Amino acid sequence: MMGKIGILSALLILFSYCGYLQPELLAEKKPSETDYCVECHKGLSGSLKTAVDDWKKSRHSKIGTCNICHQGNSGINDKRQAKAPASGYIGRPDRRMNIDFCGRGGCHSEHINNFKIGPHYKIMLRDGKPDCLSCHGFHRIEMPSSVIIKETACIKCHSREDFGNFTMILGNMEKGMEKVSENIDYLKSKSIDVVPYQKRYVQSKVFLNQFVHSMSKEDIKSTRKIIELQIENLSRETSGLYSLTKRLDIFYIIIVSFGLIVIAGISIYTFLTYMQRK
Ligand code: HEC
Ligand code: HEC
Ligand code: HEC
Ligand code: HEC
Repeated sequence: MMGKIGILSALLILFSYCGYLQPELLAEKKPSETDYCVECHKGLSGSLKTAVDDWKKSRHSKIGTCNICHQGNSGINDKRQAKAPASGYIGRPDRRMNIDFCGRGGCHSEHINNFKIGPHYKIMLRDGKPDCLSCHGFHRIEMPSSVIIKETACIKCHSREDFGNFTMILGNMEKGMEKVSENIDYLKSKSIDVVPYQKRYVQSKVFLNQFVHSMSKEDIKSTRKIIELQIENLSRETSGLYSLTKRLDIFYIIIVSFGLIVIAGISIYTFLTYMQRK
């Protein structure tokens, strides 16, 4: 029962990130209708076409088409009408406004709020960068991790050394989380109650997201400590259970083998004495 609740709430968190719970955006396009944004742009050239190829590889292609970001009328095969002002169409958003663009329809509010408390927000309002696009790109947005953060987006203002340190800290956190996740999967396959660990794992993810997106002085100091401590504890506890379960497995195999040998011995003995009596 607890396992099911865990899975359900994990799914709910995933879907509520954006898309599934946003009928006002998705209502514009039913899956069976032809989407003329994609159909027309597929046949164009240069960046007008690569937009479609890149979008197809992105996570956004799983929840909708071009108009979840650009809006416009996707059901009309005419470039002017598709982009009529009344349709809310935005082609190339001003980078100083990209937070609003990524936040349309209530999407990504958590990440945006975190970004707003950090030092980069004010700079973005003035210069347009660094913004969400600096790290995530725009059409080919895939599952993010520390490797998406490119030096070129940062060393205009930070030293190479600081950049290296920051991505190393983040990379180590991710490695730790991965290990915990593997342990949890293994324990789950052994029918052990992992819900408390899963809850703490999700909580650490939330802190990690805050750390990456705000980069405020407090987050760099205290949130970093909290995450590292949580990962260390989770890793130790789940690794302990992991080796205990492995040892119990071996113990179980020995006991079963021993039991089988004893049963076989008794059977042979009984059979032999039976034969002798005959
Ligand atoms: C009938 C073809 C056609 C349709 C339908 C169409 N486009 Fe375009 N789109 C173009 C062409 C051609 C351009 C290049 C600029 C121009 O010629 O106006 C373009 C340019 C763009 C640009 C670049 C910025 C700009 O405004 O110039 C974006 C973004 C874009 N389209 C998104 C969309 C979206 C979103 C939809 C659906 C709501 C859509 N397009 C529907 C043909 C089309
Ligand atoms: C995740 C949101 C998102 C989705 C989905 C999306 N776009 Fe874009 N698109 C953007 C952003 C942001 C920019 C502006 C990038 C910049 O500032 O350079 C952009 C720019 C463009 C441009 C300008 C050309 C360029 O490379 O700068 C075209 C054309 C375009 N989009 C077409 C499309 C089409 C066609 C689709 C659907 C297949 C689509 N977009 C889906 C966010 C999106
Ligand atoms: C400094 C680089 C950087 C900037 C700027 C940035 N992100 Fe991220 N983002 C990341 C990284 C790295 C991750 C992966 C973090 C993790 O491991 O949980 C991520 C994760 C995410 C996720 C979670 C995806 C998932 O499936 O869990 C979303 C959504 C997101 N970012 C949106 C945004 C938005 C919106 C903005 C602008 C307000 C933004 N990001 C700005 C680096 C960045
Ligand atoms: C346009 C300049 C600019 C760019 C580009 C920029 N930053 Fe910053 N960053 C700043 C400023 C200013 C601060 C606040 C420094 C302070 O308060 O001492 C800051 C703070 C930080 C901090 C907090 C630690 C510290 O030094 O205070 C980190 C981590 C950070 N940035 C990482 C990045 C990363 C990663 C990128 C690339 C995606 C990036 N920054 C791009 C200007 C920039």
